[in-house]
Amino acid sequence: MTDWIRLDSTLALPHVDPKQFFANEKRIPKLHQALHQKTLPGNEFLGWLELPEKTDPAKVQGIVDLADDLRSCSECFLHLGIGGSYLGSRSAIEFYQAFQPKTAHTLTIHYAGIDLSPASYYRLFQSLEDREICLNVISKSGSTLETSVAFQLCLDYMKKRYSAKELKKRIVVTTDPERGALLHLAKEAGYRTLPVNPDIGGRYSVLTAVGLFPMAMMGLPVQTLLDGARLAQENLLKPSNPANAYALIQQSLPSHKIMIEALASFEPALDYFTEWWKQLFGESLGKEGKGLFPAGIHYSTDLHSLGQYLQEGRRTILETFLTIDSLPKHLSQLSQPVTNTTLTKLNEQAWKATMAAHSDGGLPCLSLQMRDTTLFTLGYLYYFMMKACAMSGYLLGVNPFNQPGVEKYKSYMRNQQ
Ligand code: PA5
Repeated sequence: MTDWIRLDSTLALPHVDPKQFFANEKRIPKLHQALHQKTLPGNEFLGWLELPEKTDPAKVQGIVDLADDLRSCSECFLHLGIGGSYLGSRSAIEFYQAFQPKTAHTLTIHYAGIDLSPASYYRLFQSLEDREICLNVISKSGSTLETSVAFQLCLDYMKKRYSAKELKKRIVVTTDPERGALLHLAKEAGYRTLPVNPDIGGRYSVLTAVGLFPMAMMGLPVQTLLDGARLAQENLLKPSNPANAYALIQQSLPSHKIMIEALASFEPALDYFTEWWKQLFGESLGKEGKGLFPAGIHYSTDLHSLGQYLQEGRRTILETFLTIDSLPKHLSQLSQPVTNTTLTKLNEQAWKATMAAHSDGGLPCLSLQMRDTTLFTLGYLYYFMMKACAMSGYLLGVNPFNQPGVEKYKSYMRNQQ
């Protein structure tokens, strides 16, 4: 089996609680089987598990065609959505664009609905002046405050510039296919809609229309992403697999001591992947007073700030290094003029030196290596992480598919209005 994602736990294993490790290891086959038989809490949200295999290529082509249509009349693409309705697509778009030798087209993406800052909206509308706009609003529930506010503001702005007929060409609504305020509004106004699978929660929805449509808008070959996820689905079918091995380490470190997992990367193209990962693990596992707090570390920048803490501060952190084995040719040949060392080599040396130093400093360190920068490997990685997260939650004894804490904020917010 080719290793698309390689896990090396050599520097973490000495830190596990052996009793907990062996007990968890024994539980994995049963939990794995129960996950696939859908008999555990949260089983109504397991649509992502077989999604890559079940996704109809004709439906994917429909998403790509719709994106082509919308793009043909636009210079600016407004992406409205938050949390799981935002981070999947942004992480793939940023990853893909970073490794392209040239930009294939000139559509600019603007993300809104991710804050309530007047300054953000002021800047947004300034930058849209005289530009042709299209919009995709994404909300499974159709009632998330930040997204609703963004949609009201952007719709109001677009109504001043386009006729009702023209708006129907320029707006796509991604939401629950059966219920919700957003669906109602879309139907009334005649906007085109894309469904959010009812059996897939926001943070597990990157491979649905939620993630795929914005990616297709930005010219990403989305079928390749799905092909990678499909291979991951096949490769991770047996209980003894690297995703479960990752979950096993996460849940076998002494919980009174190790409270944080920091995902560290030396590649800025992975910054938004780290954000997606933070949401996936934070919302899935942080409940009932349990779970590792997921943090993101961006090297080299953070070597010169948080590096001190990681080396000598409180020993409460599991540091998981996410690296990429091979870069495209136009990048792998870039070298430092004086020594002629490639930047790839230097970056690799920085990673290895950091991991060795932090391990010597007493931190458990894990290494996850992606094979390359293709969307195939990224698709594989999304699926790998979702599968690891599900197992991690079940080992921890929580339902990895609900988010009662987020709902609480939403209801407090509504009460204040
Ligand atoms: O994972 C989740 O379910 C949440 O983070 C949601 O994605 C987020 O709150 C946005 O919700 P919605 O898509 O309903 O607007």
